[in-house]
Amino acid sequence: MRRVAIMVAIVALSAIVASGVIAASRSSDEAALEPTRGAPDRNIERKVDALLRKMTLEEKLQQIQLLSDGQVTDDDARKGVGGVFSLVDPQRINELQHIAVEQSRLHIPILFAYDTIHGYRTIFPIPLGTASSFDPDVAFKDAEIGARESATVGLKQIYSPMVDVSHEPRWGRIAEGGGEDPYLGSAMAAARVKGAQGRDYSASNKVVTSPKHLAAYGQPEGGRDYNTTDMSEQRLRNLYLPPFKAAIDAGADTSMCSFNAINGVPGCANRHIESEILKKEWGFDGFIESDYTAVAELRACPPQRPAEGSCGHGVAADGPDAAALALNAGTDSEMVSTNIRDFGRELLGQRRISMQRIDDAVRRILRVKFRAGLFEHPYVDVAKAQNEASFLTPADRAAARRGAARSMVLLKNAGGTLPLDPKKKTAVIGPLGDSGHDMLGPWWGRGRDEDAVTVFDGVAAQSPGATFAEGCDLPNTEPAAYDPAQDCPSISGIDAAIAGADQIVLALGEPREMSGEAASRSVLDLPGKQEDLIAAAKASGKPFVVVLFNGRPLALEDVAPQSPAILEAWFGGVEAGNAVADVVFGKVNPGGKLPVSFPQRLGQVPIYYNHEPTGRPCDATQKYNSRYRDLPTCAPLYEFGYGLSYTSFEVSNLQLSSSRVSRHGSVRASVDVRNTGSREGDEVVQLYIHDPVASISQPVRRLRGFERVTLKPGEKRTVTFTLDASDFGFYDNTGRFVVEPGRIDVYAGNSSSATLTKPLTVTG
Ligand code: BGC
Repeated sequence: MRRVAIMVAIVALSAIVASGVIAASRSSDEAALEPTRGAPDRNIERKVDALLRKMTLEEKLQQIQLLSDGQVTDDDARKGVGGVFSLVDPQRINELQHIAVEQSRLHIPILFAYDTIHGYRTIFPIPLGTASSFDPDVAFKDAEIGARESATVGLKQIYSPMVDVSHEPRWGRIAEGGGEDPYLGSAMAAARVKGAQGRDYSASNKVVTSPKHLAAYGQPEGGRDYNTTDMSEQRLRNLYLPPFKAAIDAGADTSMCSFNAINGVPGCANRHIESEILKKEWGFDGFIESDYTAVAELRACPPQRPAEGSCGHGVAADGPDAAALALNAGTDSEMVSTNIRDFGRELLGQRRISMQRIDDAVRRILRVKFRAGLFEHPYVDVAKAQNEASFLTPADRAAARRGAARSMVLLKNAGGTLPLDPKKKTAVIGPLGDSGHDMLGPWWGRGRDEDAVTVFDGVAAQSPGATFAEGCDLPNTEPAAYDPAQDCPSISGIDAAIAGADQIVLALGEPREMSGEAASRSVLDLPGKQEDLIAAAKASGKPFVVVLFNGRPLALEDVAPQSPAILEAWFGGVEAGNAVADVVFGKVNPGGKLPVSFPQRLGQVPIYYNHEPTGRPCDATQKYNSRYRDLPTCAPLYEFGYGLSYTSFEVSNLQLSSSRVSRHGSVRASVDVRNTGSREGDEVVQLYIHDPVASISQPVRRLRGFERVTLKPGEKRTVTFTLDASDFGFYDNTGRFVVEPGRIDVYAGNSSSATLTKPLTVTG
């Protein structure tokens, strides 16, 4: 049960003023979500020093090396390779670990890593979906189960959470993160770190996390993956870095530098971000691994680019140059490419890198290995790892089902179309209606298609006699073979299903291969002729709902007017079908909200709620202002924070504990929320601020608090938030966090277009 009065507490003011990062919204897992980072352990530091004194240069360079499952050999283990990723066979993990621990000169264990992004075997919704829950407990649970399953096979690091704030729906990787808002993204990031690491990641069911991709990878020009980004310091710090800081404050001990260039400087050669901000300013004492071949990619490509070999950025002439740049910038570990290992000795001789820096990188890697308890417990229990009962337990499935249902967002429900009556005859129609494969989304880990409950399975379990017709095919092709003309080229075979049904569930969207890495799209519409399925359902005159499965905001300008009800289900994971049925038939009343704006059409992109104003604010009825001539509105189709319920709510009575606050003080904002409908439901109360006069033009709204509450019909609750300098202040272009005196407008409501407002004066 939720508390009657809810206090969204903000962590200690001093820490926040220094960082500008907020605490996660408090939730029922409050205690478990407390920060875990403490002072360095003297004992560990002594052990690291002792090892470092014994290590040869070769052994140090081996520690810096991180190899993939396809690359690593017994010999690498014998020589003391630092890390291995994507290897998940517990027997082979143990084999290599035995070689490292027993046959390498200094017996240093290997750190095994994996991309457990939204589950290892128990696949949860994609992180963009989880963010829609506005419930950090869902992210916490996902990470907790993912960590336990990963650790069971011998992994001790996960390349997660992916915390890239993004305003780019064309970018396929928007699916992996928490959406467009740094505050919500920070809450989800912190919850994921705490879920995966617990208080002590040496525990046998815990792993160390690696927030990625440092930094601003979520804003590639044109939405094309890996593309460059040009970013002011204030934007970088106000919009893109906060979730990283939240993850680090929550205890994350590793991080991954990004592929993309920021202001011309690639992530893994970016001293400003890696060394000055992360390590110095934030006091991060763990290590940074490069992304996949990202060090080699610093090199210029030769005129005739070889088929094999990574290159492109052109900030390094050759391998040695790339190695020196990356290491000197602050990259501590090189993934897949081997430049630091290969050229370290030569570079040291030429004084292009220092022994001090090599030692620092190795010290960080060893520190994490000691903290992870790898020296005490290097091996995995193979019998347990091979026991099916260790994975996807009934409790894990139940958590995934709950998480998926809480992640769904009801976008439209004209005339109370939903919930449908399960006793009536239901037809499931659409290319995603019986696909387990797609439900798992773009980072399925070790999830299996056959584990996933399809929409048809879920619907049929609750509505006996349900039927299914695919209507058309959305092939699961990888990019090289992809031909858009094959996506649902025409519809057929649905007439009988429609004729025999009282109501229709349309399962539409994108195949999972359209999301994730290297999966940018240049259109945001439903692929192929899927809209013809909507037209056919509409022509039948029967009630129907469009259930959407996708990894990005879609442009639904043509879909929305044709559809009485739209449910955004994202890729819901292993229990997607059951969760869809729970919501569609009303066992669960949807309460998710959009963590990202849905444009009317592609041309509006990037469109996001926390944009800065202009000197000509958009007014669709006038000419000389910031608008599109061919669009009669300034708004997205569905805004950030938006989502409906089967009941109705009223948010009212915004009160501030004081109308003035000193820049060192804090003020409480309280607001009432009442369930004005006739069934129990969830509402997400949201608090925004706007600073109307500042030295740097401030976003028109900034989310600074949220709480998801469950209310019975007629029930009212008062939700209280605390605002302080971390909320009123912002980073300027010199990288300073400033709190300026003056008026702040506080807004409360149930979406980013909240209108309830009260002014507040921040005094000097
Ligand atoms: C991705 C990372 C991932 C890494 C290792 C890269 O291609 O960008 O997110 O962690 O591969 O699998």
